[in-house]
Amino acid sequence: MAEKPTSTQCIGPSHRPAGQKPSATVSAEVAFENVRVLPQTPQLIALLSMIRNKNTERADFIFYSNRIIRLLVEEGLNHLPVIEHDITTPVGRTYNGLMFQGKICGVSIMRAGEAMEQGLRDCCRSVRIGKILIQRDEDTAQPKLFYDKLPEDIADRWVLLLDPMFATGGSAIMAVQVLKARGVPEDHILFLNIIASPEGLKKFATKFPRLKVVTAFIDQGLDEKNYIIPGLGDFGDRFYTI
Ligand code: URA
Repeated sequence: MAEKPTSTQCIGPSHRPAGQKPSATVSAEVAFENVRVLPQTPQLIALLSMIRNKNTERADFIFYSNRIIRLLVEEGLNHLPVIEHDITTPVGRTYNGLMFQGKICGVSIMRAGEAMEQGLRDCCRSVRIGKILIQRDEDTAQPKLFYDKLPEDIADRWVLLLDPMFATGGSAIMAVQVLKARGVPEDHILFLNIIASPEGLKKFATKFPRLKVVTAFIDQGLDEKNYIIPGLGDFGDRFYTI
């Protein structure tokens, strides 16, 4: 089933009637069970408006991107397995809690994915982080694996795969193939990204139905240069000094 296009909706505090809320473009809906789009809250839309704005300066771009990345990581962690964990509070009462089960690691798709590493470290102390470099092969025009450095025991870990812009899906598909070849089960991979194209998502979600994608927004599509539209331009160029 194809994704629905982005639409304009009234977004604002719940105490205001619809007619008094400002309207904004929200994410396209998704038709794939393994894709989770963050709730389109006023806060998220305001953060996205900052980083999409071509006039936003680098320091602000980094600050607001980091806030969205944090939301993505927090949501991604909700998809990891937990077990019951009862604890005793300082006043001697029992609290029926939970604890995460299993080991995790991050894997960033270089270079833009490295921008998401700090957000993961902020939530998961001492987390192991691997890297994958995939670039377009000049001869074949296909994505090619240039470099990878992954934890040796990655097959025993849940992997949070990091890349902020999910355009054609070529790099992400190759990254997942590398992870699977190292023994990571497909359903142990969570792919976190800020903005996804419907084309990339469809290809990816169909190819890897057991893998979970968490994204902040599904945009309208791709332009002739495979930039996401309306998008935010080149994430790596805006996050890093060039
Ligand atoms: N990578 C980016 O940084 N931006 C896009 O629009 C697509 C891929």
